[in-house]
Amino acid sequence: MKKKVLGGLAIAGAFALALTGCAPSGGSGAGGGDELITVGFAQTGSESGWRAANTESMQEAFSEENGFELIFNAADNKQEAQIAAVRSFINQGVDAIVIAPITVDGWDDVLKEAQDAGIPVILEDRTVSASEDLYASWVGLDFEQEGRTAGEWAVEEAGDAGANLVILEGTTGSSAALDRATGFGEAIDGSSINVLDSQTGDFTRDGGKKVMEGFLQKYGSEINMLFAHNDDMGLGALDAIKAAGLVPGQDIKIVTIDAVKDGMQALADGEFNFIVECNPILGPKVAELVKKVLDGEEVPKSEIVPDGAFTQEDAIELLPTRPY
Ligand code: AHR
Repeated sequence: MKKKVLGGLAIAGAFALALTGCAPSGGSGAGGGDELITVGFAQTGSESGWRAANTESMQEAFSEENGFELIFNAADNKQEAQIAAVRSFINQGVDAIVIAPITVDGWDDVLKEAQDAGIPVILEDRTVSASEDLYASWVGLDFEQEGRTAGEWAVEEAGDAGANLVILEGTTGSSAALDRATGFGEAIDGSSINVLDSQTGDFTRDGGKKVMEGFLQKYGSEINMLFAHNDDMGLGALDAIKAAGLVPGQDIKIVTIDAVKDGMQALADGEFNFIVECNPILGPKVAELVKKVLDGEEVPKSEIVPDGAFTQEDAIELLPTRPY
């Protein structure tokens, strides 16, 4: 399956890139005639600190030194753009395609097109509802368990007194948002927690801030607990909470998911109260899978990378060496 990265491909690739806006990552990609594996990576966008760390991990793992030419596309959180990027990778005749699917549904047709073209697809991060036969492997996180862990913390924190909770959901229709909602819902079911409201902030800081402002206008100081599906939305919510004259971490207890540096800093500062980890360093695993699939080796259909969970004391201890 490996291809020589020759001038013709580079020219064809450049033409396709001009049409699609996809850009080769890391140099000319000519590779001096070496046998590089060309990989098209369809990233969701750049919505969060987690996403930045995931992109960096992928770009490092799919470097020329490691034998790859990476064609990178970030779809600005728009599924049509992500599907168009995958179609462009197919037209360019890449050796393999990696997708971090924005939403769970809507992948069947383009995955079938890749399969018909003989190009293996590896999924990373989020899952899809399409048949497993249409992709080679998936590596990512147990989002449902992340939500459950956040919910278990919330139940314990609420205790007998109870809590009035609002939820900032991730991107609508993403497996990360759907599964975290399921796990969290299961954990708080029958508890003393009263869910006042739940809306999407699209995994962004801006989204988290705007939605939290709306919650505070509607419910005021009735709110005493927040679950944000990621750190960035929680960080955005901090601005809204402070602007409303409330103290984050005290008046409103906050649990988030990701554990990126800014989130861990907020936890160390006592503005967040608990963070469930979502590990973004998936690049090396995905690169290994791509090589194995192209070499015809058997690979597991799915692989889960383990996550931790952190208190304020953990954050203070871990922050100085936190890599992302
Ligand atoms: O799919 C993983 C989620 O996507 C992360 O939790 C969030 O920060 C990102 O945008």
